[in-house]
Amino acid sequence: MTAQTIDLPGKEMLVLLSEEQIQARIAELGAQISQDYAGKEIVLLLVLKGSILFAADLCRHITVPCIIEVMGLSSYGASTESSGEVAVTLDLTKPIQEKHVLVVEDIVDTGLTMRYLLKNLRAREPASVRVVSLLEKPARKRVEVGLDYVGFVIDDLFVIGYGLDLDQRYRNLRYIGHVVDASTPSC
Ligand code: IMP
Repeated sequence: MTAQTIDLPGKEMLVLLSEEQIQARIAELGAQISQDYAGKEIVLLLVLKGSILFAADLCRHITVPCIIEVMGLSSYGASTESSGEVAVTLDLTKPIQEKHVLVVEDIVDTGLTMRYLLKNLRAREPASVRVVSLLEKPARKRVEVGLDYVGFVIDDLFVIGYGLDLDQRYRNLRYIGHVVDASTPSC
């Protein structure tokens, strides 16, 4: 595994998924989604802020008509542990009734955020709701939410980069990694 230096004293970043791996998988997901939604229009619903980079790359591999909407949800605050409490920080501005909604999420960890979101969306009577998540961390799953498309299944690690943050930082990295003590062997 490649190690990258970061601006945290005594720490370094181990690259879990490289830019090339991420982009290749997103192209596959986009092709699959385009095939599954042939003849339909999709409302791509981005969950802020973590899915921004993923959604930006994914939508360019989707060949059916798309509308992009955003919704803000907050579950962690500045912590790396889910509080289990979800808050809507930014709501949809348009109705999704009769629309085919595809939720674009960065990571499903406990599943609590997604369970809340799906219940919230289904109450608005869309024609369908599916979920694409770049990452899934099954080891910490607390509720089953049924993901339709998953980029990568990962181990129980707190990961950052490519949209994922640690206290709002590191979202702009092109790769996904996890922070370790600089003394930790990297293989
Ligand atoms: P869940 O409710 O536990 O499934 O958590 C969902 C949200 O927690 C995600 O949308 C992320 O914003 C955040 N999250 C979960 N795991 C990680 C991680 O490893 N790194 C960064 N954010 C995470």
